[in-house]
Amino acid sequence: MLSRGEARRFYDRFGARQDRQAFYEDAAVDVLVENGSFESARSVVEFGCGTGRFAERLLRDHLDARAEYRGFDQSVTMVDLARARVGEFGSRAEIVQTDGSVELDLAAGCCDRFVSNYVIEILAPEDRAALIAEAYRLLVPGGLLGLITVTHGCSLVSQAVMGIWHAVHNLRPRSVGGCEPIVARELLAEDRWVVEHGRVLSRWGIASEILVARRREAS
Ligand SMILES: C[S@@+](CC[C@H](N)C(=O)[O-])C[C@H]1O[C@@H](n2cnc3c(N)ncnc32)[C@H](O)[C@@H]1O
Repeated sequence: MLSRGEARRFYDRFGARQDRQAFYEDAAVDVLVENGSFESARSVVEFGCGTGRFAERLLRDHLDARAEYRGFDQSVTMVDLARARVGEFGSRAEIVQTDGSVELDLAAGCCDRFVSNYVIEILAPEDRAALIAEAYRLLVPGGLLGLITVTHGCSLVSQAVMGIWHAVHNLRPRSVGGCEPIVARELLAEDRWVVEHGRVLSRWGIASEILVARRREAS
């Protein structure tokens, strides 16, 4: 597992090469977009926004012109790339540099969509749980959490590919950007979240879990 500092240094160096992962990420992102009802969103928060590719897609094609987007990332390189990418959307889009904490400087109930694509599996297990708790705090009741992670394979080919991925992660996590195949659904407590869409999809043997979960009212 990469520490926060190691992950920051990795993604500072990796930079725009992140977009080359589109060959397996895009199909999963399509599923998230199809199920995330972004057209009715008013305020989107993205944790680990990377180069801003998803932000640009949301702002250009899916969000209402009055909806706001805020992306957070700890990598200076990624923040610079994302800011350049969403600059044309003016005050509708803000990219915030963080210190790697999963607690964001935002008010409770500030958003109705919280998304994080291919990030939570980089975090330490305690940070994964804390990020889901933060999503719960930030979302309004009824708001949607969208998550995509690399996961275990579900066909013979993807089981083999993801088995190798897992082994490589255990030996040298940097080789796979710190991404450990996980089952993200296990992070969502039933008394807090209703999973409205859950699917595992693989491209070129690389398996992605896509989840859309609705935040329950506090009990
Ligand atoms: C695999 S990339 C995914 C980027 C983007 N979401 C995408 O799908 O293309 C992981 C991103 O998470 C960011 N990241 C990793 N750990 C983080 C942390 N603790 N806090 C904020 N961002 C983090 C990295 O800097 C990087 O931009």
